[in-house]
Amino acid sequence: MDLPSGLDMSGLELPQPDDDAIEYSTRLVAAMVERIERNGGLIGFDEFMHMALYEPGLGYYSGNAIKFGAFGDFVTAPEISPLFGNCLARQAEGLIAQGCAGRILEFGAGSGKLCGQILNSLPNLEQYLILDLSAELKQRQQYYLRNILHADQFDKIEWLSGLPENFDGIVVANEVLDAMPVHMLFKQREWLELGVGYDGKRFDWRSFAPGEQVLAAIREIEARLGDLPQDYRCELNLNLKPWFSALVQSCRRAVVIIIDYGYEQSEYYHPARNRGTLDCYYQHHVHFDPLIFPGLQDITAFIDFDACADAAEASGFDILGLVTQRQFLVANGLLEDAQRQSENGDTHEQLALSQQVKTLTMPDEMGRIFKVLAMQKNLPLDMPAMQRGSPGG
Ligand SMILES: C[S@@+](CC[C@H](N)C(=O)[O-])C[C@H]1O[C@@H](n2cnc3c(N)ncnc32)[C@H](O)[C@@H]1O
Repeated sequence: MDLPSGLDMSGLELPQPDDDAIEYSTRLVAAMVERIERNGGLIGFDEFMHMALYEPGLGYYSGNAIKFGAFGDFVTAPEISPLFGNCLARQAEGLIAQGCAGRILEFGAGSGKLCGQILNSLPNLEQYLILDLSAELKQRQQYYLRNILHADQFDKIEWLSGLPENFDGIVVANEVLDAMPVHMLFKQREWLELGVGYDGKRFDWRSFAPGEQVLAAIREIEARLGDLPQDYRCELNLNLKPWFSALVQSCRRAVVIIIDYGYEQSEYYHPARNRGTLDCYYQHHVHFDPLIFPGLQDITAFIDFDACADAAEASGFDILGLVTQRQFLVANGLLEDAQRQSENGDTHEQLALSQQVKTLTMPDEMGRIFKVLAMQKNLPLDMPAMQRGSPGG
């Protein structure tokens, strides 16, 4: 089958999508082209990314793509090892022992692995709530979790269609904020915003004058860090503020644990990082062209953790700390857990465990780039894993 418009690979050496995938993507391309035409010839990249990931029934997360694991496009920590979920379960146990309610609310539960790992490790948890934008993933989570959990554990899970009211407990979001649509900016003499147009064959980049909110946000960053150089491209996530402000309103007494890849602001907007942080994942290939394969590939942007903490604090959360994933996992007993399991396993299992620990914690794998940001509302408690000097730092 010929590649239809919008699926041009721009010379990238990527695996060829099969006929079903091409047909599926072609429907999304048509919806995007219609939106672009209705909007006078271009849409902001944030809107393009939103459609590419979440257009009902067609977007990458809202449609049929396999997404996670060996047959998908990327692997997340709970897919790599149950050791990850065990650490979060131990952290939750510590918080519950200090008076936090025994309930977890997980955003964006992906394949459901993390939920399964936590419920298996914490049989006394009262309730596990899942809120995912993807109806397709919700079905997949239900199928998977029904199969791996005892009925009494499975019955503790409730899938929500919106934020709960007066939530008491622990909120977890692993690799969720990186899937939020971002604005794309480019600095020539002035700041320009990058949008997406369509030339009749493929999507292309078009620039336009940024709106007030975008301009104010990037100028505030420059006021803090100094002027950024010419020919500088970067992303801006304006969804953080509304997300945290909705979350804080739905929480009564809660701890929120955000895990994702990202940098502090001075590193995120470092003058040398002049091509931004946007990555695309397609069948375990990472590349930088978000305009190809609409609906078939994941598009993500790193997290600016200072912007994240500022948005959370301005909304009313108290920040408990920001540490690397390595530090968080080690402080929550990762190494002891792996050692215990290793003693009971055969050589093959021991090797697998050692590889999993490496992937989760080594600085050149997930250990440094991935970070954990924790915050609380109305729960003045101790979270030693969030102190920078804690083990593993
Ligand atoms: C990269 S996946 C991570 C999945 C899972 N947490 C894991 O670690 O394997 C992103 C997930 O976040 C969901 N998602 C993105 N934005 C969301 C939001 N604002 N609220 C709830 N879920 C969201 C997507 O549907 C998807 O399940």
